[in-house]
Amino acid sequence: MAAPAPRKILVTSALPYANGSLHLGHLLEQVQTDIWVRFQKSRGHHCLYICADDAHGTAIMLTAEKLGISPEQQIENIQQEHMRDSAGFLIGFDNFHTTHSEENRVWSETIYQRVKDNGHIAARAITQAFDPEKQLFLADRFIKGSCPRCKTEDQYGDNCEACGATYSPMDLIDPVSVISGAKPIEKESMHFFFKLPEFAGMLTAWLASDTLQPQVANKLREWTEAGLQEWDISRDAPYFGFEIPGEPGKYFYVWLDAPIGYIASFQNYCDRTGHPFDEYWQPGGDTELYHFIGKDIINFHGLFWPAMLQSAGLRAPSAIFAHGFLTVNGTKMSKSRGTFIKASTYLAHLDAQYLRYYFAAKLSSSVDDIDLNLDDFVQRVNSDVVGKVVNIASRCAGFLRNKFDNTLSAKCAEQSLVESFIASGEAIAELYEEREFNKAIREIIALADRANQYIDEKKPWALAKQAGSEQEVHDVCSVGINLFRVLMTYLKPVLPAMAEKSETYLQCSLDWTALQAPLAAHALDTFQPLMTRIDPKQVTAMVEASKETQPAAAVPDSGRDKPAPGAATADTIDFNDFARIDLRIAEIVAAEHVEGADKLLRLTLDLGEGAARKQVFSGIKSAYQPQDLVGKLTVMVANLAPRKMRFGVSEGMVLAAGPGDTELFLLEPDAGAKPGMQVK
Ligand code: 2FM
Ligand code: ZN
Repeated sequence: MAAPAPRKILVTSALPYANGSLHLGHLLEQVQTDIWVRFQKSRGHHCLYICADDAHGTAIMLTAEKLGISPEQQIENIQQEHMRDSAGFLIGFDNFHTTHSEENRVWSETIYQRVKDNGHIAARAITQAFDPEKQLFLADRFIKGSCPRCKTEDQYGDNCEACGATYSPMDLIDPVSVISGAKPIEKESMHFFFKLPEFAGMLTAWLASDTLQPQVANKLREWTEAGLQEWDISRDAPYFGFEIPGEPGKYFYVWLDAPIGYIASFQNYCDRTGHPFDEYWQPGGDTELYHFIGKDIINFHGLFWPAMLQSAGLRAPSAIFAHGFLTVNGTKMSKSRGTFIKASTYLAHLDAQYLRYYFAAKLSSSVDDIDLNLDDFVQRVNSDVVGKVVNIASRCAGFLRNKFDNTLSAKCAEQSLVESFIASGEAIAELYEEREFNKAIREIIALADRANQYIDEKKPWALAKQAGSEQEVHDVCSVGINLFRVLMTYLKPVLPAMAEKSETYLQCSLDWTALQAPLAAHALDTFQPLMTRIDPKQVTAMVEASKETQPAAAVPDSGRDKPAPGAATADTIDFNDFARIDLRIAEIVAAEHVEGADKLLRLTLDLGEGAARKQVFSGIKSAYQPQDLVGKLTVMVANLAPRKMRFGVSEGMVLAAGPGDTELFLLEPDAGAKPGMQVK
């Protein structure tokens, strides 16, 4: 029977913003994608991995301005850095381009024109917040002020972290532009919209088609069922992006040209290599297209993108593969704990393959979050990769080299055992195909256990001491090496550098397609150590290096993050204003979770003898466990007027520093301070 024709597959992962360094969260996605692509290549398919930097938007423009360089220079610097870091993690992009490219300009204009010609673009004036000093329209996250409901200060955008209220950012009390500190005004301007509601029928069918993971389809159905809204695809100057043809001063919104960057990067690849382009983007062909993304951007890829493609007469993705977020040691990555780990910091301390293996051992096809538990990481990699897989080869290689001229025995002594390992390949391949990498790894390690068990039973080291057992030693070690070869074939997508070293040693290619029969009478090369154990000290050093104070960015590094503090300085106050604030040392005598509150803890504060205890709701839940707070002394604003919150009355405020979430540090007085003392 003729082998089925190789599949033609185009794969992408999300385009990282050219506004900051890659961190381990980015690498989770790139590693997942890379393993899948390498697996497809090993199976003999034609598979290409395309990516690029996402180079447009206000944030990139402001960062460049702050650094005193042009946005072009900024994105060029970052692209070099991103490419270097991804290469360090053995990410095998077939092409890494940028959305600020001629190919992307042409494709963005072409798609826009087709969509417009089809009547899917609307134009109307809208009113938005405008920074009169910077002469810039302000996205919600660039405005802060006090919550109009609970009056909590320093709330960014359109929702309050303290009471959960949602509102228009212009309804904030005393709103200020985070960029200049100026009071925003309201200003009208013309915007262009993609008429998403016209695709409601098509999207409903797409969501019902099993193309998406069930959790993703369910989430997106919430959007279609609530009624789709037209999507604003334009931004006013000044903006770093592509100007909309025929609309001076209007630019494509970064999220319009970002996914088009997939097409543009592929175009660049085809122009460079002569690879055919059209068959990958025209509807009805036999090619496959997959986007790997994080679960936070499923609306762009699962709704807007397929609708835009359809309107422009281009093919729909074959599937979208969303993954969950990365947590480290069970919580959100945190700079203060040293768990916000940049790709380059990791690489300065540890082998990329350790993390590739650990991610593979945890990744599945679901959108569940993945936790990198650093103790488990050390233990798992050392035990599985070094203790089990490498061990098979290193136990056998010495005998073969010293006694048998580095050549495998003429006939495989355990044909059926080796064949059973090869036969397991189909089930393992299916797991890889389905992105059930954790299950594939479990199967592979179970095979490694069986291989070690075989060697343990045969004890070549004991046989080697017995006269007349030479042939058996040769046979056992040759079987061991054959089993190792099969295992390394299965692990090659995850551990490409170790597989390459093994290929040199084994003198054969470790591709699925090359795995038919055991090797016999086969000459080996010199055995080189394949991987060393992780020393936990390396992990400690990486965490310490990640704690280095990182300068606060003046602008958010993505469209989703809150700006870092320090972006705007508060107005000065005179001494009398300051003197009106009654700051006191308080002892936290009780701390508890508040049912239904995401961020708040209820604290009971003791202000010394004779003073009534106070109840304070404080938004420090993600930074502290309640039990760790009890007994601590801190500083509170004791004369703050009581505020009624959703969960009760808050009678003051405790002082904490930091940007928020897990990075909040309660102020504590030096030893000797007593509850009730006034802070002067
Ligand atoms: O969320 C992000 O980091 C975006 N830069 C991803 C873009 S993916 C694609 F649409 F370009
Ligand atoms: Zn509020």
